[in-house]
Amino acid sequence: MCGIVGAIAQRQVAPILLEGLSRLEYRGYDSAGVCTLAEGQFYVEKTIAKVESLKEQVATHHCPGTLGIAHTRWATHGGATLVNAHPHLHENLALVHNGIIENFDTLKAELIKVGYSFKSQTDTEVLLCLIHKCQQETAGDLQAALFKALAQVRGSYAIALIDRNHPDRLYAARQGAPLVVGVGIEENFIASDVLALLPVTHRFIYLDDGEVVCLGASRIEIFDAQGQPVHKDSVESPLDLESISKGQYRHFMQKEIFEQPQALANTLMGRLSDAGLNPEAIQGLDAAFLNQLEQIKIVACGTSYHAGLVGKYWLEELTGITTSVEIASEYRYRKAVVRPHSLFITISQSGETADTLASLRLAKAQGYSKTLCICNVNGSSLVRESDYVFFTRAGSEIGVASTKAFTTQLLCLLLLAILIGKQRQYLKESTVSALLKEIATLPELTKQVLTCDEQVSALAEQFAGKHHCLFLGRGIMYPIALEGALKLKEISYIHAEGYAAGELKHGPIALIDQDMPVVVVAPDNALIGKLVSNIEEVRARGGRLYIFGTPQEVFQHDEQTKFVSIINAPEVLQPILYTIPLQLLAYHCALINGTDVDQPRNLAKSVTVE
Ligand code: F6R
Repeated sequence: MCGIVGAIAQRQVAPILLEGLSRLEYRGYDSAGVCTLAEGQFYVEKTIAKVESLKEQVATHHCPGTLGIAHTRWATHGGATLVNAHPHLHENLALVHNGIIENFDTLKAELIKVGYSFKSQTDTEVLLCLIHKCQQETAGDLQAALFKALAQVRGSYAIALIDRNHPDRLYAARQGAPLVVGVGIEENFIASDVLALLPVTHRFIYLDDGEVVCLGASRIEIFDAQGQPVHKDSVESPLDLESISKGQYRHFMQKEIFEQPQALANTLMGRLSDAGLNPEAIQGLDAAFLNQLEQIKIVACGTSYHAGLVGKYWLEELTGITTSVEIASEYRYRKAVVRPHSLFITISQSGETADTLASLRLAKAQGYSKTLCICNVNGSSLVRESDYVFFTRAGSEIGVASTKAFTTQLLCLLLLAILIGKQRQYLKESTVSALLKEIATLPELTKQVLTCDEQVSALAEQFAGKHHCLFLGRGIMYPIALEGALKLKEISYIHAEGYAAGELKHGPIALIDQDMPVVVVAPDNALIGKLVSNIEEVRARGGRLYIFGTPQEVFQHDEQTKFVSIINAPEVLQPILYTIPLQLLAYHCALINGTDVDQPRNLAKSVTVE
C-alpha cells in the first residue's frame, strides 16, 4: 500500500525522505515521488520505477530544503504513471495521500464547476484542490482550510501537506490509514510506519482517527477532528535497524522463514513456564468472561484468515466452544447474528488491514461481549481498538508474503485454545501439561524441519514451466494446503489451489494430468488412511505427486511420486511444522521463475484500503 514520509528539520531532508521510502518499499508500490521546499520553491522528482531510481534522480537534480514530503504509491485511482504519482502540486500546496476518498467524483464535479482543472486521475488531486479552495475561503489560513476540507471528505486517508508560503510547518492527518509522528531533537517527522523513521528516531506518537497534527522543527501540535488540542505522550519503539536488514540472506522472505525457530521461541517466552501456561499471557483476559463464553467468531484476511481456519480446529477440540471463521471483506457487509457471551477475534500481522479493522468496529457495534486481536504490530489500529491483545512477537516481517507471522499466529491460537480449555476445565490438567510439554519442543523441531531446505530446492526444479498446481490436505491440514497454495501463487505466479483432499472427486480431479503437480500435506495422523486413498486417486489418473510426510509403508514410491521426509512430530504441532516446507517450496519456485520475491507484483504488505 501507499507509504508516506515527511520531515521538518534544520538539516537537508531529502536523504531522510528517500531512506524512509526505501524502508517502506516492502509495503508494495508502483511509483514514488518526493517534494522539498527551499526558498519559496518546490523541488519535485517522481518515478514509475523503484525508489533506487528516485534516489539517482535526486542525486542528479537535487531536492534542497529542510521541509519535505515523499510517497510510494500503490495505484487505486488511475494507472501507475508519472502524472498520477504523488506528491501532487497545486499552486502553493503539495500533498501526499494514502487511502481512498470515496466521494471524490462529487467533489471533483463541484470543483470543476468553480474553475479547477485536473492533470491526474487521482482522488488525491481532488482533495488537494479542495484544500486549496478552502484556503481561499479562509483568507489563507491553512489549518482552518484543512479542517474545512476534511469535514467534506468521505473515505480513508493519511495525508501530509506543505505550503510554499509556510515553510515552518508540515501538516498531517489520519482517518482510517496508519500514520505516526516521529519525535526528534529540533526535527520532527511523520510516516506510515515506524520502520521508515528508525534511522532518525526511536520515539513515536501514534495518531488516532480524526486527528490532525501540525509539526514544526521543535513543536508538535495535535488536534482532534473538531480542532481541539489533544495531548499525547510519545513512546519508545523497541525495533532496531538490525531487525530490518537482510543480513546473510538473499531475501527478507528467506530470512523470515529461517527466523521461525527464534520467532516461535519469542512467542512462547514468559507465557510458558514450568508452572504451565501463564494466565497473564493475554493481558487482562478475564476468567469470569471465559467461563461464560458460548461462541467464538474469528475474522481476518489472506494468510491470517488461514491461521483462523486452523484455529477453529483447535478451539473446538480443546474448548468445546462453537467457533466460526470468516473473511473480513465478507463479514463486514453481511448481517451477522450475534449470540450473547460471544468473543470476536481478529488476526492480523500488520494490525492495519482495512477490512479487518472495519469488521472489528462492526463487531463492537453489533454487541460482541469482548474483542481480542492476535497481532504482530504494537501500537497498530487493531491493537489499540481491541479489548484484549495477544502479541505474536514474530519481529518485523518485511517480505510481502507472510511466513513467520503465520506460524506465530498459529502458536498464539493454540495457546489461546489451551488457556480457554483449561480455564473452563474442559481439558484435564494432565492433558494441558502433556500439550504444553509438546509445545515447548516446537522451536527445536522447527529447526529440524528447516533442514529439508536443500531437498525442497531440488524438488522445486520440477515445478519449472508448470502453470498450475494443486495442494491437498485433510482435517486441520486442509487450511495448511490453502496456505501452501497461496504462498506459491503470490510469489512464483504459478496458479495454485488448495483443496480438502476428500473434495477431489467432486470436481478438481478432472484437472489431473502429468502437467499439474499435486502437493500433498501428509503427516502421520488419524486421517492418514483416508488421505492415502485420495493419493491413489491421483496416481491412478497419471498425476505427479509431491508428498510431504513422515516416511511410512503406507506411501507407495514410484516414478510418479516424489517424497519429502518431515520428522515425526506431535500431532498438535503438525500444522505449524508442515507450513515450513511449503513456504520453502514457494520460495524456491519463485527463485526459479525469477520473480521479485519480497515485493511480488501488484501486492502490498499492509492493505490499508478495502
Ligand atoms: C499473504 C499475505 C496476506 C496477508 C493479508 C492480511 O502472504 O501476507 O494475505 O495475510 O493481507 O494481512 P494482515 O495479516 O496484516 O492483516
